[in-house]
This record gives sequence, C-alpha cells and structure tokens, in this order.
Amino acid sequence: MKFLKLLLLFIAVQMHAQQGGMWIPSLLEGMNETEMKNLGMKMSASDIYDVNNSSLKDAVPQFNGGCTAEVISSKGLLLTNHHCGFGEIQSHSTVENDYLTDGFWAMKLEDELPNKDLEVTFIVKIEDVTSQILNGVAALGTEEEKQKKIQENISNLNKTYPRESFQGVKIRTFYEGNQYMLFVTESYTDIRLVGAPPSSIGKFGSDTDNWVWPRHTGDFSLFRIYADKNNRPADYSKDNVPYTPKHFFPVSLDGISEDDFTLVFGYPGRTTEYLPAVAVAQIVNETNPAKIEIRDKALKVADGFMRKDKAIKIQYAAKYASIANYWKKWIGETQGLTKSNAVQVKKDQEAAFQQKVLQAGKQVEYGNLLADFDKNYKDILPYTLSRDYFMEVVLRNTELLSLGFKLYQLEQIQAMRGDQAFNDRKNNLRDGSGEFYKDFNAQVDEKVFEQLIELYLNKSPQQFIPENLKNTNIAQLTTSVYGTSKMTTYDGLKELLTGDTQTVLKNLNNDKGYQLVKSLGEAFLKNVNPKFEEINTKLSALQRTYMKAQLELNKDARIFPDANSTLRVTYGKVKGYEPRDAVAYEPVTYFDGVIEKYVPGDYEFDVSQKLIDLYNKKDYGPYGENGKMPVNFIGTNHTTGGNSGSPAIDAHGNLIGLNFDRVWEGTMSDIYYDPAICRNIMVDMRYVLFIIDKYAGAKNLIDEMKLVHPKSKNQTTNKQKVKAKSKKN
Ligand code: ARG
Ligand code: ASP
Repeated sequence: MKFLKLLLLFIAVQMHAQQGGMWIPSLLEGMNETEMKNLGMKMSASDIYDVNNSSLKDAVPQFNGGCTAEVISSKGLLLTNHHCGFGEIQSHSTVENDYLTDGFWAMKLEDELPNKDLEVTFIVKIEDVTSQILNGVAALGTEEEKQKKIQENISNLNKTYPRESFQGVKIRTFYEGNQYMLFVTESYTDIRLVGAPPSSIGKFGSDTDNWVWPRHTGDFSLFRIYADKNNRPADYSKDNVPYTPKHFFPVSLDGISEDDFTLVFGYPGRTTEYLPAVAVAQIVNETNPAKIEIRDKALKVADGFMRKDKAIKIQYAAKYASIANYWKKWIGETQGLTKSNAVQVKKDQEAAFQQKVLQAGKQVEYGNLLADFDKNYKDILPYTLSRDYFMEVVLRNTELLSLGFKLYQLEQIQAMRGDQAFNDRKNNLRDGSGEFYKDFNAQVDEKVFEQLIELYLNKSPQQFIPENLKNTNIAQLTTSVYGTSKMTTYDGLKELLTGDTQTVLKNLNNDKGYQLVKSLGEAFLKNVNPKFEEINTKLSALQRTYMKAQLELNKDARIFPDANSTLRVTYGKVKGYEPRDAVAYEPVTYFDGVIEKYVPGDYEFDVSQKLIDLYNKKDYGPYGENGKMPVNFIGTNHTTGGNSGSPAIDAHGNLIGLNFDRVWEGTMSDIYYDPAICRNIMVDMRYVLFIIDKYAGAKNLIDEMKLVHPKSKNQTTNKQKVKAKSKKN
C-alpha cells in the first residue's frame, strides 16, 4: 500500500514535470521537440532557435527590460502590449493631443515618434559556460568565498568573451546556480512609436478585468526599430533607417480553434517553482496577507480621492494601476495555492524525494536538506516579514517616506564617499524631483501614511521597531510629519537641499519627516537586513543543492529552470478550463462581449462611438470568423510577468496572438503550475489587424505585414492525415 502510494506520487511528480515549463531555446531538440510535435507542432527545433541561420528567435527581442516584443515586417515593425508601451504613449500625450485617450497612428514614417531611454535587445546566441563559471569554486570553503569567485569568473568572461563592437554579453544562472548560460546580445536604441489604440480598447476593463477571464482587451501597441545605414544599432538620428530583421513573423488570418498548438516565445521574469513546502506555507499564511493588507489600505485611500477629484485621478492613474496589479495578483495567488493544496502537494513530493535519497544512498549529501530548509525558513521569517513591511510601507507605497529614504541615502553617501559624491547626488535629487512632485498630492499621501504607518508599527515584528517609535500616537505623528516636513512640496525640498554640506545635513536632520525615515531606515539596515542576507545566503545554497539533487535523482524527468528574464519557449494548446463546480470557460471571447460589458461614461468600461459603429456595421473584412470578431483567447502556455508582449505562434511559425495576462485561478503558476487551471491570455491577432485597419484606417501598416492562410493551404494535407490515421486504427 505504502509502495503504491509512493509510486503514484512519483508518477504525479513526473506528470507535473511534463506539463508547463519555460524552456531554454537552444536545448529544445533533446528536451522538448518530440512532445511539441506530439502536440501538433509542424516546425523543427532549429526553426525556432538556430545560431547559423535565421530562426524565430531573431524576431523576438526583449522590450525595455521588462516586456517582450516581436518583429512583424521586413521594415522593423514591432508589436508589443499597450501596457508595455504605456509610458511612451503617455510621455507623448498632452491635453491637446491625448494619445492615451484617443490613440495614435503614424500614417507615414516621418510621423513616427522617437523615445528617450527605450531599447530592445535581441539574442544572437546562447552558450553553456557552466564549467568556466564554476572553475575553482568547489575547492573553496565558505558560501561567501564561493559566491565571490563566481562573480569574479563572470566578470572575467564578460570582459574577454569575443564579440562584435556593437554586441553585448550577459551571463545568467539556471537551476539555482547549477548551470550558467552566456547570451550574446544586440540592443537597438532608436525605437519609435508607430501606433496605439485608445485606452478604451488597449486597456479595456482596466483593473476590474485585470488577471481575469473572460477578457476583452486590445492590449497592443506598435513601434519601429531604426538602425544606421549598415543596419547596426545606433542612437536616434534623423538619418537612421528602418531596421531590416533577420526574421519577421508572418501573421495568420486563419485564427485558432480549441486544441490548436500554441507556442509563446519571450522573456519570463521570475518564478520560484522549486520552493520547499515550508516556504510556500510562509507565502500563503504570512507574507502575501501582510503585503495585500498594506496595498489594500493604500489603494482604498487613493481610490477615494481619485473618484472625487479629476486632477488627482490623472496624477495617480499610473501609480494606482501598478500597485493594484500585484495586489490583485497576490490575492489570486494566495487563493489558488490554498485551493490547489499546494503546500500538501509539495509535502507529498518531499516525502517521495526523501525516499529516493534513501534508495540512492545519498543521505550524506541530501538527507538533511528538508530539515535544514525548515530550520532556516523558521529563522528567517521575522526578518522576511519585517523586510516586506519596510519595502511596502516605506519604499513602495508612502511617497514621502520613499523620497525621504533617498535623502537618507544621500547622508550615507556623504559619510562613505565624501563631499563631491554628496554634491553630485544632491543636485541630481534636487533637479530630478520635478517629475515626482508633478504627480504628488500631500493630502492623499498623508492619509496613506496614517493608515500604513499604523500597520508598520503595530503589525510588523515588534522586536525591530525602533524604541522611540514604540507606543506612538499615530494621529499626532501624522500631523507632525505632514504639518511641518519640508518634503511635502518641491519648493520645500529645494530649500532642504540648498547650501553647503553641513547646512544641508543640519536642515535634513531637523526635518520631522526626515527624522522618521532615518530612524526607520537605520533600524532596518542595522537590525533586519544583515541577518536577512545571512540566512538568505544559506537558503540559496540549500536551494542550489536541492535543485542539484532533483536533477540527479530524476534523470528521466524533464525539469525546467525557473524564469530569470532570459529568452524561453513555452508551449501548449488553446484550451478552456473549469475553475469551479459547474462552471466552464470557453477559450475564445468575441466583440459581442465588449459591447455586453460596455458602460457609457465608466472609466473602465466605456468605449468610443466609432467602435460601436463598427460593431453595428459588422464590417470585419478578412478578420472576422462566421460573422463574429474574435478578441482574446487562452491557452495552456506557462507564462509569467515579462512575457507580456510575447508572440503566440502557431504550429508553422506564424503569429496568431499577443500574450498579455493570466487567468485569476491560475495566477499561482509562478509558484505551483497546475495544468488544469493555469492559462495565459492572448489578444487574437485578427482583432489587432481589425483595429489597425478598420478602426484606425492605418492600411499602410497592414500593407507592410505578410498575411498568411496556413490552415486553408494545409486543408488537404490535414484531411489526408486524418484519413490515414483512421485507417490505421
Ligand atoms: N496583469 C497583467 C500583467 O501583470 C497586465 C497588467 C496591466 N494592466 C493593468 N490593469 N494594470 O502585467
Ligand atoms: N501581465 C504580465 C506582464 O506584464 C504577464 C503575466 O504576468 O502573465 O508581463
């Protein structure tokens, strides 16, 4: 009986490894190609990644560090999400030309808008450099020495690895330090805005629909890569020309049906799929609830003001969206982990793991791992929590405190690096804070502070609260900080930062706001962070060994490395799901759903008359399907933050969709991927084309794309296959 249970568990672990996963593009051939073909893929691994010939990877750059984009024409036209281009669209907007509200379309190259500090980075090649990076490491004694040596090896290889003058090199660890990969990159910095739908399309449903299926959002925007005359990266110049890509995606007009093969190619940011049960339990029971409570309060305050005051609404729109995004994600994640029993699943996997260690006679190496995890996670918990409170309350959600912390760092710079460094940083802060104050409202922030500092002082681990702040009267503290601190206005800040070093330091230390941040900051840096780092270093080492053990003891299982912002392939099928009893979701949404959700005048669900007219006319051209216009669809591709803007690719390598989100029940996929309910959400490319063509009238953009009909072309082949199969059966 016991054996049977373990066997079943083992199979479950293996099955788990078969589904989901974010794979390294250069290793697909051995790892994934067969499974991909079984799922319906008609390409080979080398069509996706090839060093010597052009392949799909040549059309998939990272967009501005945190998103993904894809090249969709021979003239460097680039597609990504509306929420990825949001900052650029906003920065070109004025009250007269409000591209966020009305959209923007360049009808010719000269109308395209250059952007400061925007870059896209292509991967030229990927190489395994594990042996170089780990050279001489094993012989060293302590974890600190090992890490130092690894950093040295990385920086040496970084300097010496051969490359062209216009290329870069990045080295990243995989499997928690068990493998190292080197990436040769090419970054383009002249990237111009080409098109964006109005937010009522690109951000339709806003925060209410965020992380939710069924969805109806046209979350896309268009840019163009410019290069110098030799097609090389170059900073903006009017002499630059549209970039000629090594590869660009043809766009499929044939759309998708349930069970079609899909591949999503992009730059997933961070996952933690191999945490032990004890760590997952801490996320579910301790850290997520604390962070959610903090943001919940901050958001309620901001929302109250934003609903009453238009100017505040504009000032806080972007900040609100970004705080709400992860607040909502953590709620979904906690619910999902609870509902799927993730902690118990992990515990069962750990029991099976212990058994394997025993069978393999590896008790000495791996026998204590789980007990060590338990001990260290128990030790680190108060530090983790305290750190989360500091990050969320001081650095993230109370604006006066986060600015104050920068001033506190200024004082530290003076102590460590002297007057010159101090002055440079001081001038920088003084001149650069205009942006901050443009969107700052002291009244809003005061209310946020009052709520959040109360949580901080009463709910974060009490042993780390500075003595002088214990038993504080919150209302008095709030009035004294916001009633007197010079940091509440830009003029006040400039005043604080005027004069010689001694004057500035004296003024700062007399400011009530500054005094508070300083005492919180000092307590954190002295009593919390060092110990956190110390235990965390041990935990990283344990995680590395745990990963090594899993790789070693599951030789036949395919185990994918956690996301680390490097290029990955994930694949699956178009698929609905059943989130709870008696509820089943279809995999595709239609234009009809946009109109069903439409609420005139609502800030999340309003649409323009033009879109309603198009709906009434039903003039979908070649983009519709049986008189209906598909909008979004979902699939079983394992994605995470950073995959936004990733191409969704069909069996032949054509573009069918644009990734932008995940479904509510599956947001826990960063920690525990459950194939039954984890789905990624994509915009159907036909909706993108429809908006560009029929809504914006930007036929010029449609004309430079390559539109294809892969399904119609293959219809006979498919039929023949089906026949052949039925004969065999
Ligand atoms: N949830 C998606 C992602 O994590 C989309 C976020 C943008 N949309 C929003 N309403 N904030 O990035
Ligand atoms: N919306 C996310 C992004 O911006 C994608 C996700 O988390 O699924 O990358």
